[in-house]
Amino acid sequence: MSPLLHARGVAKTFGRTRALRDASLSIDAGEVVAISGPSGSGKSTLLHCLAEIVVPDEGEIHYGGTRVDELDEDARTRLRREAFGIVFQFGGLVPELTAEENVAVSLMFRGTDRAEASAAAREWLERVGVGDCAALRPGELSGGQAQRVAVARALATEPAVIFADEPTGALDSVTGEEVLGLLLGAARERGATVVLVTHDNRIAAYADREVVVRDGVVSDVPAVAR
Ligand SMILES: Nc1ncnc2c1ncn2[C@@H]1O[C@H](COP(=O)(O)OP(=O)(O)OP(=O)(O)O)[C@@H](O)[C@H]1O
Ligand SMILES: [Mg+2]
Repeated sequence: MSPLLHARGVAKTFGRTRALRDASLSIDAGEVVAISGPSGSGKSTLLHCLAEIVVPDEGEIHYGGTRVDELDEDARTRLRREAFGIVFQFGGLVPELTAEENVAVSLMFRGTDRAEASAAAREWLERVGVGDCAALRPGELSGGQAQRVAVARALATEPAVIFADEPTGALDSVTGEEVLGLLLGAARERGATVVLVTHDNRIAAYADREVVVRDGVVSDVPAVAR
């Protein structure tokens, strides 16, 4: 079986910083993979490349057997909206929108009408424990509340792949494990694939597999001819 998501020899430079030098990684459908490594090693950059947010300078990204890093901006945006849910390291919520609107918008991008999207958004906010924050804007939320809203937003569209970049970074360890439990529970229920960036060994232990990025290099050598 070919992997759902596959990166080969990916490199990315920002100015003079080589954020990624040689990243190769294969992820099967339904797998929960943790990406760990020191600060600045290139974890977020790798996640952004896999999620088609950042275009690599070198190498290839394949999703579902199709090369996707060469698609144009519109096609990559469509892929993200239709198949991916993303929890950004620093929340990435839209400051002008309420928590409910932040979640609802991702559904509306996929064609859900406003009333239905709002109802679903409220339900997801309840599920992740911030139902009472629906009317608040990101500036009025604590770091942990914002992170829960970001998780709700990523899960609401029931994406094939959930990318989560330190989704529990702003939470204490008990709350972090609770939020991660919600995220992974929702993913495993549907057989969704999860790519989870974390520097926390306890969090990584929830994954099926852990890959380590060091100085922009990760080589996750495939088991059998992938
Ligand atoms: N947009 C950018 N512009 C300039 N430099 C960047 C950019 N994004 C990342 N970098 C640099 O690339 C390197 C890798 O960054 P990246 O964010 O991928 O690391 P990370 O492993 O996610 O770190 P952390 O654990 O602190 O989140 C760092 O040296 C960072 O400063
Ligand atoms: Mg990072």
